[in-house]
Amino acid sequence: MGRFPHPSNDICSTTCVVNGLRGHHSSANRTHCRLLQVYYVEAASLLPPPVLITGSLQFSSPEQSTTSKTKMNSIGSSFQPDASGTAPKQGPFLPTLKLNDGNEIPLVGYGLGTKRGKWDDAAKAPLDQSIVDVTKEAIELGYRHLDGAEGYANEEELGAAIKASKVPREQLFVTTKIHAVHKKNVEEAFALSLKKLGLDYVDLYLLHGPWFADTEQELQQRWAELEAIKASGRARSIGVSNFLQEHVESVLKTAKVPPAINQIEFHPYLQHGDLLPFLRKNNIAAAAYGPLVPLTTATDGPVNALWKQLADKYGVSESEIGLRWCIDQGLVVLTTSSKKERLERYLKKLPLIKLTPKEVSDIAELGQQKHYRSFWKERFAPDDRR
Ligand SMILES: NC(=O)c1ccc[n+]([C@@H]2O[C@H](COP(=O)([O-])OP(=O)(O)OC[C@H]3O[C@@H](n4cnc5c(N)ncnc54)[C@H](OP(=O)(O)O)[C@@H]3O)[C@@H](O)[C@H]2O)c1
Repeated sequence: MGRFPHPSNDICSTTCVVNGLRGHHSSANRTHCRLLQVYYVEAASLLPPPVLITGSLQFSSPEQSTTSKTKMNSIGSSFQPDASGTAPKQGPFLPTLKLNDGNEIPLVGYGLGTKRGKWDDAAKAPLDQSIVDVTKEAIELGYRHLDGAEGYANEEELGAAIKASKVPREQLFVTTKIHAVHKKNVEEAFALSLKKLGLDYVDLYLLHGPWFADTEQELQQRWAELEAIKASGRARSIGVSNFLQEHVESVLKTAKVPPAINQIEFHPYLQHGDLLPFLRKNNIAAAAYGPLVPLTTATDGPVNALWKQLADKYGVSESEIGLRWCIDQGLVVLTTSSKKERLERYLKKLPLIKLTPKEVSDIAELGQQKHYRSFWKERFAPDDRR
């Protein structure tokens, strides 16, 4: 599907309503309507015409029509952001982000950590059917990117949910991670993860954190072991998590394959200084976990009033503003919810809004007034903002 330049000033035959705005457009063969900031896909033959559903522009696609009207995937999307930091445009679907190895990662992931992890030793052994059920539900709602980890102790549940969902394996993007702290044999740990997941490959295998390594050589050696796993085809992409710039630099010194992504805690109160520009310069994507910390664990901070104001402006909730703030900076975003309605709403609303560059920077500026880290606190000094 091609992309076409905006055909400037011509007035068109299709009337659209998005977020209460109204405008006229000439044909489907374009990508961008300046007035509404709406992006069209070329090739009406591939997508049926837009339909108005409760004031929002939506497209139906063959896959949508079989299940949910609000499925989030990239089918029909003509725009693809990459690790450069280019943000996706508003459109009928959230596109995937192209990684530096050519693979594509869905921009929004459903996380199996935090509330879904089996943190209590006693709970680790038996299969927890409730985790299987909620994960299956998320897949059936339309989530295709599933963020797991050995450390969450629920790879078996993730695997069982994938199997039970009946969504074809190739439509899913499955991540798992090797322990952040333990010195492990990578091949053994990876083989065990695959076995628990019941899969013969994962889409992304991450070093969960750099803390297992006492030396730079140890970090580089483990990265080389991940490269071997990628070369074997059992992990389509490899990357890191919770890496500071210095850790990435160490890996890059000896890497044959650069990390595709760095998954980090990211929200207005933890913006990591120069890390994002550094990753972009090196064509390494960033994924944000904890994007909703201002709504969960640091609720008295300076961004809440603006999030609320923007939520009212766009007719969404503050949660979508928090997620979109990451997406609009070109980050993949990981979230979770115990509420089906919330997960459904993300799928429906996130593609239909886009913060302006000023709104993105206003939130960033307000966020700088507070520093808060929600995860891995024991690994960082209280005022470490990297
Ligand atoms: N690599 C790492 O070290 C690492 C660390 C942490 C997490 N992660 C990954 O990131 C995933 C996402 O985790 P996260 O928990 O940090 O995601 P998050 O999106 O920051 O938080 C999700 C939570 O936000 C709550 N929430 C949403 N909207 C809200 C509102 N308006 N008011 C109050 N609460 C609201 C939800 O509560 P409800 O349940 O009530 O909807 C949900 O529990 C994890 O599952 C894991 O896969 C990775």
